[in-house]
Amino acid sequence: MAKDVIIACDFSSEEETLNFLNKLGSRRPFIKIGMELFYSAGPQMVRRIAEQGSKIFLDLKLHDIPNTVRKAMANLAGLGVHMCNVHAAGGIKMMQAAREGLLEGAARTGGAVPLLIAVTQLTSTSENMLKNELLINCDMETTVASYAQNAARCGLDGVVCSPLEARLVKEACGKDFLTVTPGIRFADGEKGDQVRVTTPQRAKEIGSDFIVVGRPITAAENPAEAYFRCVKEFLE
Ligand code: C5P
Repeated sequence: MAKDVIIACDFSSEEETLNFLNKLGSRRPFIKIGMELFYSAGPQMVRRIAEQGSKIFLDLKLHDIPNTVRKAMANLAGLGVHMCNVHAAGGIKMMQAAREGLLEGAARTGGAVPLLIAVTQLTSTSENMLKNELLINCDMETTVASYAQNAARCGLDGVVCSPLEARLVKEACGKDFLTVTPGIRFADGEKGDQVRVTTPQRAKEIGSDFIVVGRPITAAENPAEAYFRCVKEFLE
C-alpha cells in the first residue's frame, strides 16, 4: 500500500475547492472531502473531482443501523472514491454491513472497491468524556486498540487515529493494517485548534500510512510549496 499525503479540503463549495486544486498545478493530489463540502456540493461534485484524476478519501463517518449503512455504502462505492469510513462505535455487525455494501456497490458499477477505514475515538474526545459521558470504563489507549481490533476482524483496511496512536494500532492489528492520521503540523507552524500534533517527518517515523493535512497546506501563502514540503518530509 503506497503511503501518501492527503489534503483535507475543508471548503464550503465546489468552486472554492477547484480554485484551490488549480493552485497545485498539474499534480492531482489525494484529497479528503468531509461533511462540510459533501453536504453543500453533493455526490456529483465527488464524481467530477474523481474523474479529473484525484484520489478521494470521502470522510462521512457513517454510523447507523447495519442495513442503512450497507445501502449507503453501496451508493458511495459508485462515486469513484478511493477510501471511505464508518465509526467503529457502530459495532461489528455495522462494520461488516459497510464492507458488504462497498462490495455490492463496486460489483454493480464495475469499479474498484474503496478502502474502508474506521474512526476509533475522535481526537476531540477526552479521557474524562470517555468515562463520564460515554460511560466507557477503559482508558483511551485500550478503547482505541480494542475498536481497531474489531475493525480488523470485520475485514476493514485500517483506522483513523492520532499519529501518536499509530504504533499502538500496528501492535494490536498488524503492520499491514492502515493508519490514517490527522493532527499534522510543520515544526515551525501554527497548531490552530489541534492539541496532540506531530510533524510529517515524525508521523513517518512512527509508522503512519497516510497523513491528513488541512490548514498547513490550504491556508498557506503558497499551497503548492507547503504540499511539496509535506510530501518531501513524509515520503522521502
Ligand atoms: O486543518 P487540519 O490539518 O487541522 O485538518 C485536519 C482534518 O482532519 C480536518 O478535516 C479534521 O476534521 C480531520 N480530523 C481530525 N481529527 C480527527 C478526525 C478527523 O483533525 N480525529
